[in-house]
Amino acid sequence: QWTAGNIIDDLVARVRETVGNQNVLLGLSGGVDSSVVAALLHKAIGDQLTCVFVDNGLLRLEEGDEVMRTFARHMGIRVIRVDAEARFLDALAGEADPEAKRKIIGRTFIEVFDEEAGKLDNIQWLAQGTIYPDVIESAGASTGKAHVIKSHHNVGGLPERMNLKLLEPLRELFKDEVRRIGVELGLPAEMVHRHPFPGPGLGVRILGEIHKEYADCLRLADAIFIAELRAAGWYEKTSQAFAVFLPVRSVGVTGDGRRYEWVVALRAVETVDFMTARWAHLPYEFLDHVSRRIINEIEGISRVVYDISGKPPATIEWE
Ligand code: XMP
Repeated sequence: QWTAGNIIDDLVARVRETVGNQNVLLGLSGGVDSSVVAALLHKAIGDQLTCVFVDNGLLRLEEGDEVMRTFARHMGIRVIRVDAEARFLDALAGEADPEAKRKIIGRTFIEVFDEEAGKLDNIQWLAQGTIYPDVIESAGASTGKAHVIKSHHNVGGLPERMNLKLLEPLRELFKDEVRRIGVELGLPAEMVHRHPFPGPGLGVRILGEIHKEYADCLRLADAIFIAELRAAGWYEKTSQAFAVFLPVRSVGVTGDGRRYEWVVALRAVETVDFMTARWAHLPYEFLDHVSRRIINEIEGISRVVYDISGKPPATIEWE
């Protein structure tokens, strides 16, 4: 019978048998899959696991601290945090094309991860949060972004160069099963039930060229939107929600004067498979409240718009 407890016992036994007393490296992103792998491997092999968490400067507000709090401090997992914001922003400087930005972010991630891995000796395994739908997807003809998703998450080239064997303990599980074992393993429910966040992060939510100032602004707007969605009970009713930074200046007035500042778009969708999606019909009062908070509280934003495009014809992300 399928229970989260049974599955965990089974996976733990299999991992122990496979890995023996060897050491495992995991790229921890803070997403559901790699988080569950971290918790599972920690239970199975304890300190034989080392995680590398790369802060690329394109994460959500306080995300890096949260990852360290959950995994390093609460669970006692060995996590190496790499602050690579400057490196990613340098690599991205001047690039406005969405796919080119994705490639730069993916490539820089691999470089940074690779360097960190090179500093560790005596690692024999590379763990990945591959789940069953990923296996199917990469077996079939994957096109467009889906393909990019996998190539970003997987640390290409590393296993061969370092002679690492691949460990994918969630390979046979569906997302909802992964979530259930995550909760059972003690991960915060909030983390396990998070909306998906793309590998390139805010890099594809800042339209065109990326600047730190834009990312800082967007992080604040996004945090307000998400906090309000949670408070209003809408977070669970939407499949994905986020803010998008539009590098367009717009005039506004606040109290003492005229502003000429940036625009933020809010996006919230309902979907089952992320292949098609309906824009979430959030209440006007709710949108009004969020819009006021963003404009009043964030210096640099003078206007908020709500995205009412379905997928198709639009995509969920703006880039
Ligand atoms: P679109 O924008 O194609 O998004 O409708 C569908 C889903 O895929 C996510 N997405 C990505 N995830 N790397 C990722 O890891 C990417 O480059 C990427 N692009 C889109 C998007 O957030 C949505 O959940």
